[in-house]
Amino acid sequence: MTAQLIDGNALSKQLRTDVAARVTALKAKGVTPGLAVILVGDNPASQVYVRNKVKACEDTGMHSVLETWPATMTEAELLARVDAMNNDASIHGILVQLPLPAHMNAQRVIEAISPEKDVDGFHIASAGALMTGLPGFWPCTPYGCMKMLESIGYELKGKHAVVIGRSNIVGKPMAMLLLQQNATVTICHSATKDLKAMTLQADVIVAAVGKRNVLTADMVKPGAVVLDVGMNRNDEGKLCGDVDFAGVKEVAGWITPVPGGVGPMTITMLMVNTLESAERRAA
Ligand code: GUN
Repeated sequence: MTAQLIDGNALSKQLRTDVAARVTALKAKGVTPGLAVILVGDNPASQVYVRNKVKACEDTGMHSVLETWPATMTEAELLARVDAMNNDASIHGILVQLPLPAHMNAQRVIEAISPEKDVDGFHIASAGALMTGLPGFWPCTPYGCMKMLESIGYELKGKHAVVIGRSNIVGKPMAMLLLQQNATVTICHSATKDLKAMTLQADVIVAAVGKRNVLTADMVKPGAVVLDVGMNRNDEGKLCGDVDFAGVKEVAGWITPVPGGVGPMTITMLMVNTLESAERRAA
């Protein structure tokens, strides 16, 4: 069996076209959605991510502000910048790129973002809204994964989803979103005893550990949907996910590639959240 590919680039393109149309409509009402991106320090991966986020704003017609600060910035100074963005009416979304320098308390910084502008969905108010099903912002990566499942018309009700990884920004919110669609959800750790026994039961597997080959072909039930959230480098330095793609694609029914899978969807859903924030304010 060869799995069908869920193409994150193609789906992103489609969704961004829709975002751009909604941006145009909002601009006609005098509101331009605006995203503020704050980067502290010179982490090269973060520099690439923030550039891509700013470019996505440009491509969809949104306003963006990129602030880059040296790693020597104090937490108090960063909190003051977040506060300024909270009070800036041209800004509908605030994103503080993680990781922050070690002398800062990332959670304290995130909690300083107004929940109405928390387009990353990392604030405890956003996590609480997700947990209770109230309006808020969903973290972009799990939101993108849900869109991918929707794009193939996948019915989650009654299915068993296994999420490998329990981070606050992917694993836990992913599990919550799957649960809301009436799936049965098991959250695993990469060290879960007999992980294979868990994944073999799964109709949907989300791999979000950050380690190569966490999921291999022998761990996948034929026809299962496999979403690969991993972003790793292989021995040749090429980007790869958590899934042994070459092996798993022969067993799975659907699979997301890396690159070109979940990655582009994350930024697309950031655009969706920022637009949504502006639409809520304009309403
Ligand atoms: N660092 C890696 N991914 C993300 C993300 O989605 N948001 C922020 N703020 N930082 C990140």
